Amino acid sequence: MTSLDATPPRLLDLAEMEERARESLGEMAYAYYSGGAEHERLIEENVTAWSRWQLHPRVLFDVSSVSTRSTVLGSPVSMPILIAPTALHRMAHPDGELATARAASDAGAAMVLSSLATADLDDVAQAAPDGVRLMQVYILKDRGRTAEMVRRAAAAGYRALVFTVDVPVSGLRTREVEQGVRLPDRFALPNLTDPAAGHGSGWGFMAQVVKEFDPALTVDDIEWLAGLSGLPVVVKGLCRGDDALRCAEAGAASVVVSNHGGRQLDDAPPTALSLPEVVDAVGDRMEVYVDGGIRRAGDVMKALALGAHGVLIGRPVLWALATGGADGVRELLGSFGEELARVMALCGAVDVAGIDGSLVRSVDGHPGERR
Ligand code: FNR
Ligand code: LAC
Repeated sequence: MTSLDATPPRLLDLAEMEERARESLGEMAYAYYSGGAEHERLIEENVTAWSRWQLHPRVLFDVSSVSTRSTVLGSPVSMPILIAPTALHRMAHPDGELATARAASDAGAAMVLSSLATADLDDVAQAAPDGVRLMQVYILKDRGRTAEMVRRAAAAGYRALVFTVDVPVSGLRTREVEQGVRLPDRFALPNLTDPAAGHGSGWGFMAQVVKEFDPALTVDDIEWLAGLSGLPVVVKGLCRGDDALRCAEAGAASVVVSNHGGRQLDDAPPTALSLPEVVDAVGDRMEVYVDGGIRRAGDVMKALALGAHGVLIGRPVLWALATGGADGVRELLGSFGEELARVMALCGAVDVAGIDGSLVRSVDGHPGERR
């Protein structure tokens, strides 16, 4: 239960936090974290598209007790807000992913660890043994190394594999290229089980690591991945209902509507507009998650009202980590959770299950009801 009056209310100022993060990160790390593909139109559109929806609050429902509790593939969590997989947390803070994992666990939120993390997945598990963790996977051309990582993740108690499918090639990362972003020599990518991984130089970090990714993936690889460990497979990085359906039929347990935070295809739709199509296609048979541009509790509420089971947040976590380490991420999650409880109360929803399509409509007046 998130209490509305546990701490004095204060509106989260993510723009100010990003400015402070930029100062402490330096231009290379900032370019990597904040940047996107091509002209970087979609980064901004991801944020503004949530404003194309409005909450449609109902009144005179008893909201004396509001709970943000939810589940992620059956595991209980304190809020339907997950930490998105983002690479290279040690560029933001010396404790890197260990700090992020501790903060998530303390807040009762689930964390998705990137396979391009700068901390070993076992160390992350040990840093926050009680946390709900999922392991993000890029399938490498070297299937043996992918299988090894999956086996280790299953043994370390990760609850699911988040199979990222929107990077068959790198997006044209304009700022990454301009800034010559590369993995600093003092960091490694231990989960890729190749000491040289990520240390090549060239046109940006992603352009280097993507050379190891298998570009020939199909829906059949969902079954291959699931067969390695028996862990459920969550397919991350689609925007179409028909793709979601193909993934469901191929054995996916869940999907994440995502355009990789605008880092791959600049002309793809913002996720706030893709979500309804995917919910229509598969929302009655699996949990649908969404990420991209979620910056306030109202955005979370809109996503849930449109049929998402939960949301993931990416860059805000990096700003919080850079400015405050584990404490910063804990405060960020705490603030999102408290604000979500407030928004729920103002919408007459006492629990997450009670958030329905009647609570959202488009600015043009179209209802957001799940069909
Ligand atoms: C990412 N993202 C990402 N996704 C993934 O599946 N594996 C990864 O390693 C990464 N790495 C990564 C690094 C950085 C710096 C960013 C900003 C993003 C994408 C991420 O999981 C998520 O889809 C977006 O970040 C969500 O958008 P917002 O919240 O950043 O707008
Ligand atoms: C990125 C990769 C790591 O977006 O997914 O930079």
